[in-house]
Amino acid sequence: MLHFLSYFFLISLFLYNNCIAHHYTFIVKEAPYTKLCSTKKILTVNGLFPGPVLKAYKGDTIYVTVRNQASENITMHWHGVEQPRNPWSDGPEYITQCPIRPGSEFTYKVIFSIEDTTVWWHAHSSWTRATVHGLIFIYPWLPESLPFLKADHEVPLILGEWWKQDVREVVEEFIRTGGAPNVSDALTINGHPGFLYPCSKSDTFHLLVEEGKTYRIRMVNAAVNLILFFAIANHNLTVVGADGHYTKPLNATYITISPGETLDLLLKADQNPKNTYYMAARAYQTGNIEFNNSTTIGVLRYISSSKAETLMFSGIYPNLPFYNDTSAAFGFFTKIKSLYSGQAPPLVSRRIVTTISINLLRCPQNSCAGPNGSRLAASMNNISFVTPSHVDILKAYYLHIKGVYGTRFPDIPPYIFNFTAENQPLFLQTPRLATEVKVLEFGEVVELVIQGTSLVGGGLDHPMHLHGFSFHVVGVGFGNYNTSDEDPSSTYNLDDPPYKNTMTVPRNGWIAIRFAAINPGVWFMHCHFDRHQTWGMNVVFIVKNGIWPNQQLLPPPDDLPPCH
Ligand code: C2O
Ligand code: CU
Repeated sequence: MLHFLSYFFLISLFLYNNCIAHHYTFIVKEAPYTKLCSTKKILTVNGLFPGPVLKAYKGDTIYVTVRNQASENITMHWHGVEQPRNPWSDGPEYITQCPIRPGSEFTYKVIFSIEDTTVWWHAHSSWTRATVHGLIFIYPWLPESLPFLKADHEVPLILGEWWKQDVREVVEEFIRTGGAPNVSDALTINGHPGFLYPCSKSDTFHLLVEEGKTYRIRMVNAAVNLILFFAIANHNLTVVGADGHYTKPLNATYITISPGETLDLLLKADQNPKNTYYMAARAYQTGNIEFNNSTTIGVLRYISSSKAETLMFSGIYPNLPFYNDTSAAFGFFTKIKSLYSGQAPPLVSRRIVTTISINLLRCPQNSCAGPNGSRLAASMNNISFVTPSHVDILKAYYLHIKGVYGTRFPDIPPYIFNFTAENQPLFLQTPRLATEVKVLEFGEVVELVIQGTSLVGGGLDHPMHLHGFSFHVVGVGFGNYNTSDEDPSSTYNLDDPPYKNTMTVPRNGWIAIRFAAINPGVWFMHCHFDRHQTWGMNVVFIVKNGIWPNQQLLPPPDDLPPCH
């Protein structure tokens, strides 16, 4: 009887929500798009920018066939999906797979497990994710198990970054010259720059709402190199999810969102329906670097007054924090708490401390475009990660291929110095180039402390992302982790720390994260600013198999793209 009932229930769920499929086809191809008065071809999935929304129930497995009809290599990543025992479908190029070449295809098996709320997918080779990305909506099997009132409507909201130039050229140029990449020309909301940019009056995102209704905004920052502030005039936002996990409801007048992060926000349409309200996003940026300081605008209007096109330029603007307001940015980040208590591991069996730095490499005759003719680089524990170029690390690990990577990523920074001092000795700027991984035994409970440094330019914020796991952010601080007067762990939040896959390390500050290494595989960790990833602010964790069959890597799929 019980069985019959649940069966009936599943069927009715299916009928109710019949847009949920288990197999998707992503055709990767170029498509022309015109923005800011200029047209270019961009890489897309199915011709769409941003790409399509995927939907899944918690714990589902879905299959996505990625068919490459473009002229460049591609891989796909399911950001925030832990993929238990299945790094084969994780996606980062030359870390867990060789690329899908033009004309070929690969079917990803995306295994959902503990994820709730919203995560996203994006390309993971070079900077192709700039235009190849989309959201993943996760639904509970039982609608009643949602810890907040079900919204009347769902709103996908993707923040992005647009270059007039071909993104391939941007990448090719900064790699060739050694300088900083060109900054983007616009920020976008669901692909639209908004009317503050040239030629963009009709290229503005509009959200029509009905008075009294509640909207669930499922949002990601898909920008390539920018942390963003976002707000909607006169409307509070209630954060109920972050990075695919429920949070304690948090009321906010603005939010801060780093590249890679997702948020679930409740928006109540409870303001005067006669007015037009603008939503806006712009950069949060510290440090002394050139950046895109423009603002993208979207329009929120109430259905009753939607005809009045003339109201367009008489809307109410939201207040956003000043672009370098660190206390506003981290005031938001540190207010996010897990919905649940008592989930962070209280004890740790493995402690790893790593610096993250911007670095410089010497160029012959000082001929590069970085500071003083040098080449810009980035590192973790002074190792600037060199991505293999012929075979991926997962395959090398699985097939015991020697010479692809080393296993000597250090547990502590190779040099201990005042990481956040105003002036640094010049020799510290130079990293070591290598492909070093960190090997973890199955089941180790890891605490990872990530310390920002002021090397080269005085320091920046860095959104650090880990594949294969969600982690508990037990501590965030400014200054040096090691020289704090008291034991920093006395200030940890071990009760309800946010459970995330991406966390921003404050400029000249640190974060402490904890996770249990119970997902065997090869898992990438990197800064989610693509320029820093290109420069080498990356590391790879190899988690060994456990002793039981269900603690071991799944076998590789047959259609895994070959390496050449
Ligand atoms: Cu969202 Cu390794 O990436
Ligand atoms: Cu970074």
